[in-house]
Amino acid sequence: MTSISLDSEALASIDVDAIVVGVSPAEAGPAPAAGAADLDRALDGRLAEALSALGATGKAGEITRLPALGAVTAKLIVAVGLGEAPSAEDVRRAAGAAVRSLAGTPRVAVALPGTAAGGSAADVEAVALGALLGAYSFDSYRTGGEHKSPVEEIRLIAAADGAEAAVERARVLAGSVRLVRDLVNTPPSHLSPEDLAGEAERVAGETGLSIQVLDEKALVDGGYGGIAGVGQGSVNPPRLVRLSYTHPEASKTLVLVGKGITFDSGGLSLKPAEAMDWMKSDMGGAAAVLGALSGIARLGPAVNVVGYLAIAENMPSGTAQRPSDVLRVYGGKTVEVLNTDAEGRLVLADALVRAGEDSPDLIVDVATLTGAQLVALGTRTTGVMANDDEVREKVVAAAGRAGEQSWGMPLPAELRKGLDSAVADIANISGERWGGMLVAGTFLKEFVPDGVKWAHLDIAGPAFNKGEPYGYTPKGGTGAAARTLVQIAEDVAAGIL
Ligand code: BES
Ligand code: MN
Ligand code: ZN
Repeated sequence: MTSISLDSEALASIDVDAIVVGVSPAEAGPAPAAGAADLDRALDGRLAEALSALGATGKAGEITRLPALGAVTAKLIVAVGLGEAPSAEDVRRAAGAAVRSLAGTPRVAVALPGTAAGGSAADVEAVALGALLGAYSFDSYRTGGEHKSPVEEIRLIAAADGAEAAVERARVLAGSVRLVRDLVNTPPSHLSPEDLAGEAERVAGETGLSIQVLDEKALVDGGYGGIAGVGQGSVNPPRLVRLSYTHPEASKTLVLVGKGITFDSGGLSLKPAEAMDWMKSDMGGAAAVLGALSGIARLGPAVNVVGYLAIAENMPSGTAQRPSDVLRVYGGKTVEVLNTDAEGRLVLADALVRAGEDSPDLIVDVATLTGAQLVALGTRTTGVMANDDEVREKVVAAAGRAGEQSWGMPLPAELRKGLDSAVADIANISGERWGGMLVAGTFLKEFVPDGVKWAHLDIAGPAFNKGEPYGYTPKGGTGAAARTLVQIAEDVAAGIL
């Protein structure tokens, strides 16, 4: 696991394998950014000239590599483009792209604007977090080959007041994201519902969270028909995990609910092969809730937080639920299961109703819920829905501050009608073809306890990167929503949400 520490050594003499500096676009060509000054001196003031000769422009994310040829102690210089007027997220991405490009290089020093003289603690946190997230790699199932291991040691050249606390916060947030990525990347052969509940137990033990796990028998006996119904087709039985973090000065309770389908084959409403091969990511919501709670326990905001992980494997078999089955969700409402591939909303319904027993001031659920999220918003932007306009906008704002892309979406009242069932209280799919993400949100809304504010995050696309890595985001599990959930807990603690 990559370590990060603060350092005040000059870039020219620091004993590492590579140094990272920033480049900004300017009229005259690429301009070395703040933080690169002492490197520039070591190169006789010719850093800009060297970068220009190598074709650097300073555009965001651009990586330019220069051999140091003895001018400084490190053998390699990496200049990362910052773009014009970079935001905190631009800086996180630049740091991430630079460190990611250095896989195979054990020791790296990073000096980016903000970490240099004059920078703030927030800048230091952005660079540290981006660097740590960019150093991620999932190698648990490799036994050799050409694969380069991630950067081992990052030294951040920074002097701002509060820099040490900023780096510590970055370590905590990166740890939460890493946990989510690892869980999402772990193949379903190695992460059954029982295994995922076991991971929650391990995390709870490490961070002092209270935990309670309901097994398949307790779920059936307790009336959790949604989780039991989805899980009944698999030889790997379902679980409901309840985690809780309490703070002595808390005046509010936040409940987080995560969809934890360890593999979504679709069930008897089987998915086609090309839609199935990434369905190990279908527990990304539950992983985000677990990752966030581990971060919250370490950061200690003054709020009570309960987390539910609604975990099952959705498989076709002789014991699987059938399209047209009716199940009874926790609390008694009946659902006609017309499509067994709309399973996320079934497991979430149990957990949402159960969340009502925790006297919540706010419930936030996170789920890889619909393909329609990808159609509407693409692969990187989370859809945010809520039963309250102000809550929705505040959640979108919290996500933005945490550095995650999201967009507020409506829950139009007319969509409810399409979910009417001929035999039960509600059907799990709609006769209405359009607006699938909003239909799913509309279904969930029916199970939110009366009078409780609620927001729903659809992370179907954002949880898993099928494309090439970018910024600090690797291929595969991204860690989506973990940082947003931590930010939400902090905003509730601060009384702004
Ligand atoms: N897990 C899927 C949604 C999903 C799709 C997540 C793509 C990540 C990437 C979910 O359980 C599902 O199958 N949803 C169906 C719902 C439909 C049957 C109403 C969908 O979106 O097709
Ligand atoms: Mn499904
Ligand atoms: Zn699913």
